[in-house]
Amino acid sequence: MTRRIEENTSLKNFNTFGIDVKARYFFRLTKLEDLFTLDDMEVFKEGNFFVLGGGSNILFTSDYEGLIIKNELKGHEVIAEDDHTVTVEVMAGENWHEFVLMCVGHNWGGIENLSLIPGCLGAAPIQNIGAYGVELKDVFKSTMIYDIEQKQQRVLDKADCNFGYRDSIFKHELKGKIIVLSVTLTLSKNPIINISYGAIQKTLEERGIDHPGIKDVSDAVITIRSSKLPNPDELGNAGSFFKNPVISISLFNSLKKTHENIPSYPVDESRIKIPAAWLIEHAGWKGYRDGDIGTHVNQPLVLVNYNSARGEDIDKLSETIRTDIKDKFGILLEKEVNIL
Ligand code: EPU
Repeated sequence: MTRRIEENTSLKNFNTFGIDVKARYFFRLTKLEDLFTLDDMEVFKEGNFFVLGGGSNILFTSDYEGLIIKNELKGHEVIAEDDHTVTVEVMAGENWHEFVLMCVGHNWGGIENLSLIPGCLGAAPIQNIGAYGVELKDVFKSTMIYDIEQKQQRVLDKADCNFGYRDSIFKHELKGKIIVLSVTLTLSKNPIINISYGAIQKTLEERGIDHPGIKDVSDAVITIRSSKLPNPDELGNAGSFFKNPVISISLFNSLKKTHENIPSYPVDESRIKIPAAWLIEHAGWKGYRDGDIGTHVNQPLVLVNYNSARGEDIDKLSETIRTDIKDKFGILLEKEVNIL
């Protein structure tokens, strides 16, 4: 193996849960030519690899015996522009929040509601990141991927990506088969503000802002997130551990009989989304702590590593919570975080 491939590398600083495991092999993808190096590696050819961006949506439960590819492709370029829109291609290793701040600085609107989401650009389409009434797919144009089997780069447009709530083709058919190289977004030069989410409106009102610009919205989202969600630099976590479950109207109606105040958001005529945070809180898990593992005191959907927890124990806690929610509400929560 070439010198650039590190061995037995600690991943503690490469995952926001701060889990101290090792990668057998570790490789930084810093330029597109590095793909040739990867193509020559047995462990890559065998499919025994995982691509890591910001490490903000992953839980390592043991040492990783294969190859961790750290996506560090950097840069961005405006590829099209007119009076109303700007289309920007951003490399996958760029930090999401820094990119949002840059766009807000240029008054390019569309992603200000997604301020302060941890992680890199490359991870954004995988789970179709979303918050405060906006999802990546709303501004997504295309993505350049590396097709590992075909050994070639190709472009997938929005329709190819099958985006859904925290979902995309990258979690299914293309799982383990591609590397996201860049993401292209179309943003607006005449931004339409989206403050449908109550907490944003409330924050702007408190600040006496009647005609918010995208900077005001971004600032409000940063304030809301900072007040509710733990900063991974201070407390290990990977954001929401579970997805908000979508259930049938009939199950919802029967739950309503015993839990009058259960919150809900309509999805379509037959289905309703329930906040997993509400279920976890009402099953008694909010602020739960056992040694170094627990649920966050302000947002129980977020599992936390208080110090030197083992990933395996956090995953066990998640399973205990799932079983308990299933027993109490008849709803099986789906994990949002990748477990490795
Ligand atoms: N709730 C409780 N108890 C709590 C917190 C929340 O009952 O302690 C209930 C309340 O009814 C509240 C509702 O849950 O109105 C929604 O809470 P919140 O606004 O905090 O959002 P969420 O549904 O829990 C989702 C995303 C977050 C995103 C926020 C804001 C998922 C899995 N999570 O959380 O995304 O920031 O909405 O849009 O969809 C992430 O994916 O890592 C993430 C943090």
